[in-house]
Amino acid sequence: MTLALRINGADREIASDPETPLIHVLRDELKLKGAKLGCGLEQCGACAVLVDGEVTLSCATPAAVFAGREITTIEALGDTPEGARVQEAFVAASAAQCGYCTPGLVVAVTALLQRDPAPSREAAMAALTPHLCRCGSHPRVLRAVEIAAGQGQGQQ
Ligand code: FES
Repeated sequence: MTLALRINGADREIASDPETPLIHVLRDELKLKGAKLGCGLEQCGACAVLVDGEVTLSCATPAAVFAGREITTIEALGDTPEGARVQEAFVAASAAQCGYCTPGLVVAVTALLQRDPAPSREAAMAALTPHLCRCGSHPRVLRAVEIAAGQGQGQQ
């Protein structure tokens, strides 16, 4: 039996075992390499995607769980007004360092702005808390949130 998933607005027939964690279906079968495999234990946030608009970790949950849901990966986020603004704000704030965690952070910030266009600093920090960044980019990511929300001053 094949698995059907809706990903970035398209219906996809999935050949992988339905028990395969979603991240491997995205990266290995569909070649959507934006979401990253970090810990594989739902501890770091690198694998985040949106599922029905909610930030969802894709590294440990079988792909079959997502049947019938709307999966959006970083590759399609720029098609939304918030996602496009967030990506521009990350560039303006130099919010990526090594970049490994950046797709997950962009997913998290986009979801935040979609539900709260003018988030408080506390709300932004709460949204970022599940996302680890060993380079220490969180202060610049917080600045990117402000810029994307129209609250920031732009450059450092
Ligand atoms: Fe999924 Fe770390 S790779 S949370």
